[in-house]
Amino acid sequence: MLIELIDIRKYYDSKRYRVVALDGVDLKIDKGELLAIMGKSGCGKSTLLHILGGLIGTSDGTYLYQGETVDFKNKRKLAEFRRNNVGFIVQDFALIKEKTIYDNVELPLNTRNLSKLKRKEMVNEMLEKVGLEDKIWRYPYELSGGEQQRVAIARALIHNPKLILADEPTGSLDDENQIIILKMLKEVARKGTTVVIATHDIAIARECNRYLYISDRKIRETELL
Ligand SMILES: Nc1ncnc2c1ncn2[C@@H]1O[C@H](COP(=O)(O)OP(=O)(O)O)[C@@H](O)[C@H]1O
Ligand SMILES: [Mg+2]
Repeated sequence: MLIELIDIRKYYDSKRYRVVALDGVDLKIDKGELLAIMGKSGCGKSTLLHILGGLIGTSDGTYLYQGETVDFKNKRKLAEFRRNNVGFIVQDFALIKEKTIYDNVELPLNTRNLSKLKRKEMVNEMLEKVGLEDKIWRYPYELSGGEQQRVAIARALIHNPKLILADEPTGSLDDENQIIILKMLKEVARKGTTVVIATHDIAIARECNRYLYISDRKIRETELL
């Protein structure tokens, strides 16, 4: 088992009121799983992914990653956890628009102790895998949405993270690019990477090994139609 969440709660507090986003989530995720998290807009999918990725803290509960408690209070260790373990893919790609495709993909390697030559090899290889080796010196705005998402995937995968979190990664893409993106995520899962996809698309969920719903701020294991 890679991940175990035990009775996770997440509140967003403002001065006047509290939003309860997750209220007692229990979840186990195995290594190499391709898991879809479904549910209505606002049900807490992004919140759950952000917790899994160590991007936001929990209000209560325990997050075990490879059997060890993720300590959300220790900012330095948390940043290290993210860098070492997590690749994040979001709906609007979140590429840095002032940087070339090369620089965007290289980003997760910058904190590693790797030679420039080695990094270059890795970036080239990754961009080849996503079929964008000819776009290496372009800028994000020169690419189509599907191509930008492939760059975002290359960036998420380049440091070989154990956990890929994809937050509605195909939401803004046409059918052809949806299929390409899903195929890539399936392939990394087959190689042992754990992939969690938040989606409201049943067709995407059907392609996964397992799917769960969030409703009433809790996880439900229901049959898909
Ligand atoms: N930073 C935030 N501050 C306050 N409320 C938030 C914040 N982020 C999310 N929420 C609220 O938490 C709930 C779950 O949101 P979210 O996790 O984004 O759902 P989903 O990704 O399923 O659409 C929603 O009611 C949303 O409005
Ligand atoms: Mg969301």
